[in-house]
Amino acid sequence: MKKVLGLAFIGMVSMALADAPATFKKCVSCHGADGKKTTFGNSAIAGVDKAQLIEDLKGYRAKTLNRHGKANLMNPNAAKLTDEEIEELATYISGLPK
Ligand code: HEC
Repeated sequence: MKKVLGLAFIGMVSMALADAPATFKKCVSCHGADGKKTTFGNSAIAGVDKAQLIEDLKGYRAKTLNRHGKANLMNPNAAKLTDEEIEELATYISGLPK
């Protein structure tokens, strides 16, 4: 707990990545460390409702979601995620500031 409080002073960005589940590192190139990057036609994912994120990630995993016509870029990133990893990612991303 002391270590966690200490980290809070290092800064929001490093704080965010230090807290991120390992699987989130694969998302950063397209979605940004802050979840706000929209370069590939995707919406910002930071602060989106957790249940929505779970539904989206399962949709890309099952290849049934193609919200912006760019699912071919997103599907491979969800393909190998387990339900537990999706849950972890959704908890983390929904907690990022919008
Ligand atoms: C190669 C770039 C790329 C990577 C890496 C990537 N994504 Fe995506 N993501 C996209 C694109 C493009 C879309 C929009 C797809 C569509 O048309 O529905 C998207 C959509 C999403 C959405 C729905 C948001 C929306 O636009 O409505 C979520 C949630 C999401 N990604 C989460 C993740 C997570 C979590 C990871 C890491 C495990 C990840 N993405 C990795 C490119 C990427």
